[in-house]
Amino acid sequence: MLKRPQQPVIHGADAFAAMRKAGRFTAEILDYIGDFVKPGVTTGEIDQICHDYHIAHGATPGPLGFHGYPKSICTSVNEVICHGVPGDRVLKDGDIINIDVTPIVDGWFGDSSRMFFVGKVSPVARNLVKTTYDAMMRGINTVRPGATLGDVGHAIQSYAEERGYSIVRDFAGHGIGRTMHTVPQVLHYGRPGTDLRLEPGMFFTIEPMLNIGAREAVILADGWTAMTRDGSLSAQFEHTVAVTETGVEIFTLSPQGHRFPPYAVKA
Ligand code: MF3
Ligand code: CO
Ligand code: CO
Repeated sequence: MLKRPQQPVIHGADAFAAMRKAGRFTAEILDYIGDFVKPGVTTGEIDQICHDYHIAHGATPGPLGFHGYPKSICTSVNEVICHGVPGDRVLKDGDIINIDVTPIVDGWFGDSSRMFFVGKVSPVARNLVKTTYDAMMRGINTVRPGATLGDVGHAIQSYAEERGYSIVRDFAGHGIGRTMHTVPQVLHYGRPGTDLRLEPGMFFTIEPMLNIGAREAVILADGWTAMTRDGSLSAQFEHTVAVTETGVEIFTLSPQGHRFPPYAVKA
């Protein structure tokens, strides 16, 4: 059978409504887990707490069993770029950790990650984390009908590289909706005017990973955990977004207004 390259789905109003609900729940998990990130806790404990939160709210953790993935979330500490598998690693003062959650709500996927600080974090790490957040937002704010994915990737790459960081190329954002990963592939580097032209109704993630050192990744023996080849620190943020008639809608914004760490303590 002749197979054509898949085209991104153009979603309508019902899909937007469903993704607003999934995206809001995604952000609520990240808002909730923040209080548990502190020295002495293990990544496995954070996974268990997030897992239970999904179940308590009638949602399903998308990663669990996805291509054999053994846990419900990803926890990527320090030199881990992404897809860190929760386990016995104990968080210690000064660590930075990315928590990436991908719940299924009424059949629709939300996907978002944020960085968290464990205790007191060095200025070097804080600068990496803030620059990664700002790079993601540069990319998101480039999204509008008529812009291209090359414009988005270029906005992210140029922002990061001008500040001395490298952009990881081995992992990309992705179309999302009733499946976790679909077309388009959303590169976090690129040239203006190239790649897919954006149209209202497209849903995808933007999830840049920035390293202090070189961009190359290595995969650990667990088959999942991606770390920097040179052992340097890495950070990532992720939002799920839609192209709208006028620009962009972020489905996974925090209802509590949390954006990047340090997050305000609740009253
Ligand atoms: N949330 C990840 C992403 O941003 C994917 C998690 S699925 C896993 O695409 F199997 F890799 F954990
Ligand atoms: Co994603
Ligand atoms: Co994710």
